[in-house]
Parts: sequence; structure tokens; C-alpha cells
Amino acid sequence: MAGERKFRLGVLGSGKGSNYVAIANAITAGRVAAEVALVVSDVADAGILAQARQFGHAAQFLPPGKFRTKLDEEAERAYITALQTAQVDLIVLAGFMRILKGDFLRAFEGRVINIHPSLLPSFPGLEAWKQALDYGVKVAGCTVHFVDQGVDSGPIIGQHTVPVLPDDTAATLHARIQQAEHELYPAAVAALARGEVEVRGRQVWWRK
Ligand code: GAR
Repeated sequence: MAGERKFRLGVLGSGKGSNYVAIANAITAGRVAAEVALVVSDVADAGILAQARQFGHAAQFLPPGKFRTKLDEEAERAYITALQTAQVDLIVLAGFMRILKGDFLRAFEGRVINIHPSLLPSFPGLEAWKQALDYGVKVAGCTVHFVDQGVDSGPIIGQHTVPVLPDDTAATLHARIQQAEHELYPAAVAALARGEVEVRGRQVWWRK
């Protein structure tokens, strides 16, 4: 309907932004009923910011402050303010490489999601595809989950699997996992935007 408010996404990323691009393309194609209200990065020259400008989306570098793996207090406040000002309904972490906790999660309770390049709860943390390869698993994949106070530990919204092949390197496996990410993440955001995702404790179901 004309003038109807769209579901607004705030996207946070630190890297090249291929998941953001997959979501933005899915919006353009009419597969996700949402709009990107703001893209924020903690890395000044991150590819995701350049990609966002190409799509014509508001894009902002916000300095993370003095820590390496999380936002400091002042930065956390700046992130909260920017996302609240942009009136986002959902915060989509797309390769955002800092842990979000406390005040940030309280400000957007139940509205922060992440994509992780493994079948959680296996291989949380960094370079999950490499952890999977080194461990010798035969099936790898990706997980979209709500963000809670832990690391990659929130309720699971969806997972896609990919095979691990005998000649895989960390790079080829990561590329295969990323292809799966680019299917799963837009589909999960679409379901959330349509209000089709039901959360009962750790159980998350897509109603259709
Ligand atoms: C993705 O593979 C995502 O799963 C991973 O970073 C990559 C970002 O790629 N995230 C994590 O490892 C979070 N723990 P992108 O910038 O091309 O979307």
C-alpha cells in the first residue's frame, strides 16, 4: 500500500559485505519486504561501506574505540544512537567482527541477528570454516541466529549445509559456505520482515 512503513534494517559489517549485497539484491528483486535504513562499519575502508554507497544506502563509519574485540562504552552509545535515529526494526550483523553485549543488546532486545559460517553450536568464534576443515567434519554450513550475551550462542533461526570435499582448502570451503550464506540470510530476513518467525525460548520456527 502506498505510504505504508517498511520494515527497516540496520546492517553492521567489518568486511567486504557480500552478505549485505545478497540482502540488498533480494530487496531490489522484491524477495525481502524491507529497506536498508543504515549501514555501519567499525572499519573506515570496509568494502561494505563502498557497496552500501553504490546501492544508495546511508553508510557510516563509526570508530569502535579502544578495544580490539568489542566496542568501548562511548562507541557503544554512538552505535545505539545511530541505529535508534535510523528507526531500525532489525539489526543484521553481516560480518561484524566485534562482540555486542550489555547496553547494546538491551536497546534492541530480540532484534539483533547474526550469520556465522558454521553449523552452530560447532565451531563458534573466528575462522569457523577453517576450524571445520581442520577438525575433519564432512558437512559444514552456516547459521543465522539471534544474538544473545554469549558468543555465537543465541537461538538458531536457520541453517544451511554444504559438503566438505576431499580437495578443499580453507578458501574453497569458505567460498562454498558463503554461497549458502547468500541464500539463507536474505530468506531469514524476509521471514522476520513478514513477521513469520516465532520464538519460544530456544525454539525458533518459521510459520508460513
Ligand atoms: C561471513 O562469512 C560471515 O559468516 C562471517 O564473516 C563473513 C563476512 O563476509 N562472520 C563471522 O565469522 C562472525 N563470527 P561478508 O563481509 O562478505 O558478508
